[in-house]
Amino acid sequence: EEEIMHRWFVGSIDQGTTSSRFLIFNGEGDPVASHQIEFENLYPKSGWHEHDPLELLASVEECIEQAMRKFSDMGYSKSHIRSIGITNQRETTVVWDSNTGEPLYNAVVWPDTRTKALVRELKSREHANTLTELCGLPLSTYPSSVKLLWLIQNVEAVKQAYEEGRLAFGTVDSWLIYKLNGGPKAEKPIHVTDSTNASRTMFMNLRTLQYDDRLLGFFGIDRTKIHLPTIVPSSDPECFGKVASGALSGVSIAGCLGDQSSALVGQCGFSPGQAKNTYGTGCFLLYNVGTEPVISKYGLLATVAYDFGGGRKPVYALEGSIAVAGSGVKFLMNNLGFVDQSSKITELAESVEDNGGVVFVTAFSGLFAPYWIDDAKGTLFGITQHTSKGHIARATLEATCYQTKAILDAMEKDSNHKLESLAVDGGLSNSDLTMQTQANISGIRVDRPAMRETTALGAAIAAGLATGVWSELDDLKEVNQAGRRVFVPEMDRKVAQRLVRKWEQAVEMSRGWLKD
Ligand code: G3P
Repeated sequence: EEEIMHRWFVGSIDQGTTSSRFLIFNGEGDPVASHQIEFENLYPKSGWHEHDPLELLASVEECIEQAMRKFSDMGYSKSHIRSIGITNQRETTVVWDSNTGEPLYNAVVWPDTRTKALVRELKSREHANTLTELCGLPLSTYPSSVKLLWLIQNVEAVKQAYEEGRLAFGTVDSWLIYKLNGGPKAEKPIHVTDSTNASRTMFMNLRTLQYDDRLLGFFGIDRTKIHLPTIVPSSDPECFGKVASGALSGVSIAGCLGDQSSALVGQCGFSPGQAKNTYGTGCFLLYNVGTEPVISKYGLLATVAYDFGGGRKPVYALEGSIAVAGSGVKFLMNNLGFVDQSSKITELAESVEDNGGVVFVTAFSGLFAPYWIDDAKGTLFGITQHTSKGHIARATLEATCYQTKAILDAMEKDSNHKLESLAVDGGLSNSDLTMQTQANISGIRVDRPAMRETTALGAAIAAGLATGVWSELDDLKEVNQAGRRVFVPEMDRKVAQRLVRKWEQAVEMSRGWLKD
């Protein structure tokens, strides 16, 4: 009992593209209780991808209730939880009525490409080529800005709310924090976002970490008509408020990080030159560049890695974003019926010796980094009478590995530094075959931790730093270091280079399909 009394824990909400989770970590960074719920992904039209914001919230609340039940079965209670952190799918855009707190439309999810024509038009506007220098992102269908603009232009209820000054905008972190605090009914409604999430909107200046009128002006967003979340550091005991009801009622929210930033923090990638790659719904490689942003010349994004406040300087990253990773596996399962569980895709891929000449450019949302081809479409090359499901499964897994290789090459050029090893996590990193393939294709070591809930751990770290569970980054040295497995490249470099050339040829051939 003595031991139970003096232990501290930190909670973490991880709201991703296909599921929500709540995890409770101890001071050593080990998860002790958790719950996960998958929710519905909506694809109402080709290229459209939506979530119901109320379902996202409900799934988070249910995860909290269930995990807290398991936690109390262990003899603990909410008084052992110092604070909680939030990490979330980034860019996904939520709009709600600031008076009622009700959503005005479904959330437009990050890989959604309905803004393709709008982006084409925006690219032809004056100053279009000055944006990246300010915010770190190129114009594409990916950031929140174009999604918000589309909503204002195309959804009557959103347009009206905007005209009447009651349109509230937020990424998923803002939405959840606002609602968990009690929404408009809170004594002081909390409408905030942290700088890692704000760096994905295209509205934030990467150096000042505040909104930039040149960016808002470019998109024609009138600041007086819209409620934008206040941008705050990722770790703070006050500004994210407290949970208003349920099993965590009264517990403070003290950390907030976009999920890819959070994974970098969870991997303890605190030194410049460290990188991590998270194989989730998409796949995102973040490379710590230190306290000055680096604007890429080779198709990468500049983004805020983390911003722990309290006098610490913000840290930036170069990012390579891949739109399709785990969602490619889901496609084989849900659309083509290849397997009945995602985890079985590796077995299917292992049923053949190699890809049999098949290359699958999984460009379901165009291609992201380093290519940025909005009009690329998913394309399968190299089919013969010999081709089996196994070859296609293998080609699907390899697609993420090739794109990661292209991103690593771009990073080497931008940073003049060659990575020796890549820390990995996320669902697909459970596949030994995929990780070995990644090492083979990229020619560097792939380093996988035993505890792969790094995304959730990152937000717990941000919250724990703000509330005294850890006082300095040095206190985290031992966290998540045990039981790592390293995959060493085994493929002849010439063979690997030939495979990569074939992939690059396939990428070229996947672009520019005739419009529907
Ligand atoms: O930028 C989108 C990213 O944050 C989503 O991450 O893990 O849901 O694929 P994930």
